[in-house]
Amino acid sequence: MENKWKNRFHLEPETGWLNDPNGLIYYQGEYHVFYQYAYEAKGGLKHWGHVSSKNKIDWDNQGIFLYPDKSFKRGGAYSGSAIEKDGEVYFFYTGNVKLEGEYDYIHAGREHNTVLVISKDCKTVTEETVLMYNKDYPKDMTLHVRDPKVFAYEGKYYMVLGARDTGDRGLALIYESEDLRHWSYIHRLYADNPKAYMWECPDLLYIDGEWILLLSPQGASSTDKYEFQNIYSCGYFKIKGDFRKDAILYDYREIDKGFDLYAPQTFKKDDKTYMLAWLGMPDAEYTAPTIALGYQHCLSSMRELQYKDGILYMKPVEELDALFGESREVPVENALVYETESKLFDIRLTARKQDRISLCLHQNLEIIISDDELVLDFVDEVHAYGRTKRYAKIQTVESIRILVDASCVEIFANDGATIMSTRFYPHTYTGIEFHGKAIWDIKEAIGEEV
Ligand code: FRU
Repeated sequence: MENKWKNRFHLEPETGWLNDPNGLIYYQGEYHVFYQYAYEAKGGLKHWGHVSSKNKIDWDNQGIFLYPDKSFKRGGAYSGSAIEKDGEVYFFYTGNVKLEGEYDYIHAGREHNTVLVISKDCKTVTEETVLMYNKDYPKDMTLHVRDPKVFAYEGKYYMVLGARDTGDRGLALIYESEDLRHWSYIHRLYADNPKAYMWECPDLLYIDGEWILLLSPQGASSTDKYEFQNIYSCGYFKIKGDFRKDAILYDYREIDKGFDLYAPQTFKKDDKTYMLAWLGMPDAEYTAPTIALGYQHCLSSMRELQYKDGILYMKPVEELDALFGESREVPVENALVYETESKLFDIRLTARKQDRISLCLHQNLEIIISDDELVLDFVDEVHAYGRTKRYAKIQTVESIRILVDASCVEIFANDGATIMSTRFYPHTYTGIEFHGKAIWDIKEAIGEEV
């Protein structure tokens, strides 16, 4: 079967299942991206897949890096991170174990082991050691303690782990180390708003002079049509105080208002901060028609992050520009159909001359822009595969950039202060239908096979 949904700049497996990005690192002249991978399109035992790139756009498949092949990870090599030290890469991940039997898998029947893996070339493992078992975490933790993210700060190393305590509160545990091998628990970070029972994939990040905690909390419930619309959330807290002793987390803000973004992970290179996330949502009620083609899911575009005036901004990395050709100005008076078989677009709004304007991609997904709101609306219900409508509240829409791949859309409003990301699976590729008085600027991909 022909695969019309194959993406160009969103990393995806040829076969099998993908979820979180893991172990992101720039090492020996290459960007390395590892990711949660299972052989079965519908998911299965988690491995770490691996791709590498010199330019952030063209990726070489490096095969499987970690296998669930030892007793301490026999239920899967779960998410984790990477850091370089003395010409080697130290990887940290969670060895998952699920015992067979009648368990709730929260208080009994599971192991989450923190594991260290060392490699000189990101391919061959020279050492693999379990650093912590469940018995080593604070006594009031359930068995859910996972997703180690490690970073260096003021001459020491820190590890942040996502957890669920026995009172069903989500939190992040902070560990400290001098050598990346011996770790001491020093502190924990909690917050009451939003209420969550588990924090997945915490990433404690120093960016543009401030600390923030990026995370994927589970259990937050929807307050209105703008907040917590997905089954799990994904966002960041601002941090007041020292994360090692007295930090207070406040002002949680969701980083994506679309249907699909989860488990982001950042990495640094030359003082720049980059991020990849899973362009998916665990346990969501959507289906992916690519399952019939033998694979499922992809990562987000790689984004560069900036923190300004209390807001985290994300923009697609500049290297993506090389994929697109000359821009074409498209003035719309009332309505206009921009016919093309192209699948890849970089669309910008140059001028909006009335409150409500919209564009519909391939008769499938309508994006509506008004003074104070952005809306994603799947108009072709049959080919929406379970997705419906999402809203983002914005004070004033000042700029819009819409990046479209064969089956992904990412909308960056106001320089990436508000983002909506979603998968979409058009039935046919017919072009874009614009409504409302506006001037658009469209770039199509160069040399695209359609
Ligand atoms: C987030 C997550 C992580 C876990 C991994 C397993 O999507 O549930 O908490 O380590 O996926 O694949």
